[in-house]
Amino acid sequence: MKKTMRLDKLLAAAGYGSRKEIKSMVREGLVSVNGSPVNDSALHVATEGDSVTVNGSPVSFREFIYLMLNKPAGCVSATFDNRDNTVLELVPENYRHYELFPVGRLDKDTEGLLLLTNDGKLAHELLAPKKHVPKTYFVRVDKMVEDQHLKHLAKGVILDDGYKTKPAVAKLLAAGPPGEVALTIVEGKFHQVKRMFKALGMNVIYLQRTAMGRVPLDPALSLGMMRELTPEELKEFKKTL
Ligand code: URA
Repeated sequence: MKKTMRLDKLLAAAGYGSRKEIKSMVREGLVSVNGSPVNDSALHVATEGDSVTVNGSPVSFREFIYLMLNKPAGCVSATFDNRDNTVLELVPENYRHYELFPVGRLDKDTEGLLLLTNDGKLAHELLAPKKHVPKTYFVRVDKMVEDQHLKHLAKGVILDDGYKTKPAVAKLLAAGPPGEVALTIVEGKFHQVKRMFKALGMNVIYLQRTAMGRVPLDPALSLGMMRELTPEELKEFKKTL
């Protein structure tokens, strides 16, 4: 069955103004579907197949947007916050009308790969604990990292609340101090990476997410910048569905 959407919702999502503004555009006869002017803004149109024009110009419409952000430290992974800047404030103007939200959370001081989308289904699947989507972090700690620590992380450590973490992949990048580790985990407990190292008696002094699933952070994205996912990256994420 073809996917349909109300004309006013479609045009609002494509950035043509509020529902009220769109309603009056429709009433003025400025909006056509498949070449004929329409007068009902509640009309359902096929998101693929029907052609919609406003003032004769085709409406390029995409229901879902997927952005990869290189999150900088200092902003929070939320859609609204009373005190702090949010990652949504970094979104360029041309994406603002899509109702984007971050897929999961990175701490305020954590940098790196954060997905922003308006695809609730995909976000839900990527975060579902039973899907075990791996997340890789570059971790810098204030102590020396030894082989026994890596073995511990690999087997699972006991967090401050008694939870034993699932097996992780821990690769030594620098023994230090400061020690540097690439850590891949398949779960996402609150402050998980920091608490895993805390369990080893270390403090995380820098944390960056470098990959989600098999999709790495684009090294060409500087801090605070974002770009749309490539079709290949999106395909990779959709494998979890
Ligand atoms: N683990 C943490 O401790 N913080 C993050 O931001 C992400 C994972």
